[in-house]
Parts: sequence; C-alpha cells; structure tokens
Amino acid sequence: MIRIYFAAPTWSEYEPWLPAALTAAGIRAEILLEAPDPALIDYIVYAPSGPLADFRPFTRAKAVLSLWAGVEKIVSNQSLTQPLCRMVDPGLSESMVEYVTGHVLRHHLGMDRHIVNPGRIWDPTPPPLARQRPVAMLGLGELGLACARALQALNFPVQGWSRSAKAIDGLETFHGRDGLREVLSAAQIVVTLLPRTPETENILNAESLAWLPAGAVVINPGRGPLIDDGALLAALDAGRVGHATLDVFRTEPLPQDHPFQAHPGVTITPHVAADTRAPTASTVIAENIRRSEAGEPLLYLVDRARGY
Ligand SMILES: NC(=O)c1ccc[n+]([C@@H]2O[C@H](COP(=O)([O-])OP(=O)(O)OC[C@H]3O[C@@H](n4cnc5c(N)ncnc54)[C@H](OP(=O)(O)O)[C@@H]3O)[C@@H](O)[C@H]2O)c1
Repeated sequence: MIRIYFAAPTWSEYEPWLPAALTAAGIRAEILLEAPDPALIDYIVYAPSGPLADFRPFTRAKAVLSLWAGVEKIVSNQSLTQPLCRMVDPGLSESMVEYVTGHVLRHHLGMDRHIVNPGRIWDPTPPPLARQRPVAMLGLGELGLACARALQALNFPVQGWSRSAKAIDGLETFHGRDGLREVLSAAQIVVTLLPRTPETENILNAESLAWLPAGAVVINPGRGPLIDDGALLAALDAGRVGHATLDVFRTEPLPQDHPFQAHPGVTITPHVAADTRAPTASTVIAENIRRSEAGEPLLYLVDRARGY
C-alpha cells in the first residue's frame, strides 16, 4: 500500500476520480489530506495554492506531482529535492485550445463591432479570411502546439517560436532573438503560451512590441510577467497594439487600480483560460505513479535548471 499526500485545496474535485484512476492503474493507495508523519509519504500531489512549502521532511517521497502546468512557484524551492512533474492534462489542453481559438476569432471577425453597436449601424464590411490573418504562437509546448494546430485547422497562417530549434510538420518555426523579431513582424495576432522563467520575463517589451505591425492584437493566457505592463499600455495608447486580451497578471486578482482595468483596449479574463480537469488529470497522476512503481521513467519531468 503506498501513501499519497494530496497537498492541494481541490480534494472535492478529485475525490470521485483519483481513487478510481489509481485502482484502474493497478495501484493500491491510501490518500491522505494531511501528513502528520511526512516520512511515511510515497508521493505528493501538489498545488501552489495548497499548504506545502517545505519538502525536506518528505524523506521517502519518490515524486512531487504538480496539478498545475506552470511550475514557476515551486521550481526554485530549495527544499525540493524530489523529482518534480508538471501537469500535462488533455482536459486542460482542450480548454486552452477553446480559449485561444475563441479569442482569436473574436478579434479576427471583429465581433465587438456587432455586439457593442448601440446605434445599430449597418456596416456590411466583411472581415478578411483567416488565411489572410497571420498569427504568431510564442511557445510550442503542449499548449502552444495544440493551439497552433487548432488555428491552422481554421486556415490561420501560424508561425511558432520556441527556445529550441524545431522541425514540426506543416508549421513554420523560429527560435532566438532574430526568430522572435521575424514572427512578430509578420503577425496580426500574437498568442503567448510560454512558461514564466528569467528568460521569458518581459519577452513582450517596448522593443519587441514595436516589431508588431500597427494594430496587432496580443492574447496572453501564459503568465503575466511575460509582458512589460507599462510597455503594453504605451503601445496600446500609440495604436501599435490594437487590443490586448489578458488572462494572467503579475498580481492576481488584478488590482482594481491597475491601469489595465480602465483601459478600453484591454480585455481582462480572470485566469480562466485553462484549468486542470480532475477526470483527466487523475489518470495522468495515476499513470505517473504506476510508472514510478514499475521503475519506468516519469512523464513530464521538470528540468529544474531550465525552469519549466
Ligand atoms: N492561463 C491559464 O489558465 C494557464 C493554464 C495552463 C498553463 N498556462 C501557462 O502556459 C504555459 C505553457 O504551458 P505548456 O504546457 O505548453 O508548457 P511546455 O509544454 O513546457 O511548453 C513551453 C514552451 O515555451 C517555450 N519556451 C520556454 N522558454 C522559452 C524561451 N526562453 N524562449 C522561447 N521559448 C521558450 C518552450 O520551448 P522548447 O519547446 O524549445 O522547450 C516550449 O515550446 C505554462 O507554463 C503556464 O504558464 C496558463
């Protein structure tokens, strides 16, 4: 019997799913919501919103399994010596694809013109076709690539940018500073699906925002610090950026007095782009525990030096 410490505040969501997923994976486990004796715990299911900050007493734990895709709040925790796995969840990816395609289509089709039209003005100007609307996808990981594929399926010409050079069938990809300049220079819509690391902080700043064609739209469901807030506001005011749809912020909830709140060129969504879904995430956790117990490599291991 293995012992799993569920160190996250969402047990009620997982209760109907995680025990069943463990049983289906052939694992006999006791799930604990508290760990009075940390030395007895074999695995930790973790969320940064949970109670756990010091991993040192968990001397026997074979892995920490994050319920979150983004691991910036744990990756530099010096007390963590156990392997850390991030969450790659089909349900989460599905919801990110829906968020990104929905907000891209909003801007592409100019939906606001018709939804917010108090004078009922009859303007029959059609939008261009998706094939005429280049999109830059910053980040080509689990989420960025899934979103790129969904947008391509709608005919948007997508160019992708990542840390490492890639060869992805049917997708033009770039990396490095020059690559960033190239994808941004061509994009009418840019989507940021990068992790927060020291390298990605302020990746959209005054210089890189100026590479965008005038009026381009920024959609950020990645992390708040990817964008220099002041530079984005200046770019919006100057018309270099036509609109920004932001799901994530340096401080969440976004303070009421933050200039984004009142800016007409900013749409704020409250970090709802993609949530981990208990039914599918439970299967992912159970599979990783099964692998660990069978001596197989863990899935979705975080590279602590790289930061994601
Ligand atoms: N708003 C929400 O509700 C929500 C929900 C879930 C996740 N997220 C955010 O989405 C992020 C992405 O998730 P994911 O699962 O797609 O992550 P992932 O699979 O780890 O992919 C990360 C991508 O970013 C690229 N990247 C990392 N550092 C870079 C750098 N310095 N320069 C250029 N590219 C860089 C990586 O490049 P390589 O491919 O070369 O490694 C990879 O393509 C998460 O970290 C999280 O912050 C937000």
